[in-house]
Amino acid sequence: MSAETLAPPADAVPQAAAEPLPILIAPHPSLRLRARVVGPGDDDTVRSLLPRMFATMYRAPGIGLAGPQIGTGLRIAVVDLVPGDVRHPIALINPQVVAASDELATREEGCLSLPGQYADVTRPAFVRVRYVDETGARREIEAEGLLAACLQHEIDHLDGVLFVDHISALKRNMILRKLAKEQRNKAR
Ligand code: NI
Repeated sequence: MSAETLAPPADAVPQAAAEPLPILIAPHPSLRLRARVVGPGDDDTVRSLLPRMFATMYRAPGIGLAGPQIGTGLRIAVVDLVPGDVRHPIALINPQVVAASDELATREEGCLSLPGQYADVTRPAFVRVRYVDETGARREIEAEGLLAACLQHEIDHLDGVLFVDHISALKRNMILRKLAKEQRNKAR
């Protein structure tokens, strides 16, 4: 079972027609589950989910979205740092950080699953990420700046980790309590 055998068509990437999916909001328990590695038997699911994940991310709008945020337990994510007329979509299947710098960088992060919440997060400044793209090809990107942070943020999601896990427990609990309260009020 090898991820390289995945072969969704190249047009699996952005389709305006794809129907967006609802985004799970913290503290939804599914956001805390570790997603599983995509295998050849997941081709159809991945092929149908990727365009919908792009549609969901563009509609939000956001610059990244990971499988657990739309309730799938598969290791897939989409990223586009320039949502707008000119698109630079990256579909990531089974992404993993294979190298990270000792040098750190801090930037403000937010998350579509934690609407309205932002915090400074410190992570390695440079990372090399290995993944399989939507055509089934093995790829590697070396990233710095916003892309490095975004890739690490999305890969965290696949392990059930949220950006608030990188900040103080005090601030994290404040944010999560606030979101839980908002969700309760909405459910009323
Ligand atoms: Ni996020």
